[in-house]
Amino acid sequence: MDSQIYGLSLAFLALLAASASALPAKPASSAAQINSNSVLVALLDSHYTELSELVEKALLLQTLEDAVANHNISIFAPRNEALERDLDPEFKQFLLEPRNLKSLQNLLLFHMIPTRIESNHWRKKPVHHSSLCRDAAGELIPIHEKNGEKVVGTARVIKSDDIVRPDGIIHGIERLLIPKSVQHEFNSRRSLRATSAVIPEGAPEVDPRTHRLKKSAPPAPAGAPPALPVYDALAPGPSLAPAPAPGPGGPHHHFDGESQVKDFIQTLLHYGGYNEMADILVNLTSLATEMGRLVSEGYVLTVLAPNDEAMAKLTTDQLSEPGAPEQIMYYHLIPEYQTEESMYNSVRRFGKVKYDTLRLPHKVVAEEADGSVKFGHGESSAYLFDPDIYTDGRISVQGIDGVLFPAEETVAPKAAPVAKIVSKPRRGKLLELGCRMLGAVGKNHHFSTCH
Ligand SMILES: *[C@@H]1O[C@H](CO)[C@@H](O)[C@H](O)[C@H]1NC(C)=O
Ligand SMILES: *[C@@H]1O[C@H](CO)[C@@H](O)[C@H](O)[C@H]1NC(C)=O
Repeated sequence: MDSQIYGLSLAFLALLAASASALPAKPASSAAQINSNSVLVALLDSHYTELSELVEKALLLQTLEDAVANHNISIFAPRNEALERDLDPEFKQFLLEPRNLKSLQNLLLFHMIPTRIESNHWRKKPVHHSSLCRDAAGELIPIHEKNGEKVVGTARVIKSDDIVRPDGIIHGIERLLIPKSVQHEFNSRRSLRATSAVIPEGAPEVDPRTHRLKKSAPPAPAGAPPALPVYDALAPGPSLAPAPAPGPGGPHHHFDGESQVKDFIQTLLHYGGYNEMADILVNLTSLATEMGRLVSEGYVLTVLAPNDEAMAKLTTDQLSEPGAPEQIMYYHLIPEYQTEESMYNSVRRFGKVKYDTLRLPHKVVAEEADGSVKFGHGESSAYLFDPDIYTDGRISVQGIDGVLFPAEETVAPKAAPVAKIVSKPRRGKLLELGCRMLGAVGKNHHFSTCH
């Protein structure tokens, strides 16, 4: 009889999995676009795999996209073990049953707060926050510091500021937060004796972990990525600065960016079909130097490289204005390390994704099309054509079959005289804006049009 019940719930699970996996193929209909550096994208790519799987299964992506479109969020992410080993199997089964979807959603949303809470916001005196869970019957989440440890609700924070993004922050916590309402639903749904949903802790083998974790509690947040201060220092706003590099980056010149740039230009030449792009990079020494400098300082770059056919379509008009080639190239540089896989996963999950470019403040939009990634819109769009031409962990080069222009400029090159009159002042303004922002970011950005 037990096995019957088990078989039944397996069928439910399969159904749930099927409906969940059907979702990404049909992206949300809303026109909203998610930023590639959003905390949501980061969550799905993070080591909190159990949590992010549940978020997808619970069909919460749209809800969360709407949330980050309006305000920052803070996510208290239980470590994987809290959702695997430490969770009462019966409770987990309850959560995964399709008819209990609401409970699963409530449980997950209870771990998210509609404001930005940074590690330095913890105080001895508890502050109570409401969560994104609307059905928590007004249950608030207290946040406070106890014996030098950060605590949220009933859980210890084991990695504060684990993932920091412009629209939100993820803090790692040691166990699940269960709203009373969900516990209540669980208790009333099952006929067996009511026990706590979480297996009681205290087993001796937990100790080594606790020791390890205790070290991360002191005020200097050991968990913060080393490059983060650079990002903060560089960025007057979230969209302006290159994303921090993962790993040992920072302004200590651990990386020989110059030779990495040379390396990828060589690769482009050998790959074939990208001679124009390689040529421009060689000719525009300031651009190559700039890229090398950024990589040396620990930043990462993704180059969207238009192939020769695409470059051949550029008119002399488009290239003749002073600084035009630089402008075009800067629009094809994304200050993040993205591979075909990471980009494809993002567009499949979110529909449309916006990437920052080094051409401030313009972003490039990507979406899924024909089983590939399509950048830009309308006439100025391009498909990911030759994926992962060069990927060394810091520079990624992706071949595309078109030259991209910011949305505002796609009309400009068409009818020459009129377009020029219309586009020049606007272009000038944008450039001026870009230059001013670059000035704020750092002195060494060479825009030949910036003086
Ligand atoms: C999120 O927080 C950052 C830093 O405090 C702020 O600059 C940004 O405007 C906030 N975003 C939203 C959507 O409120
Ligand atoms: C690069 O410079 C060479 C030599 O000056 C020139 O012949 C070539 O056309 C340039 N290429 C581009 C794409 O500007």
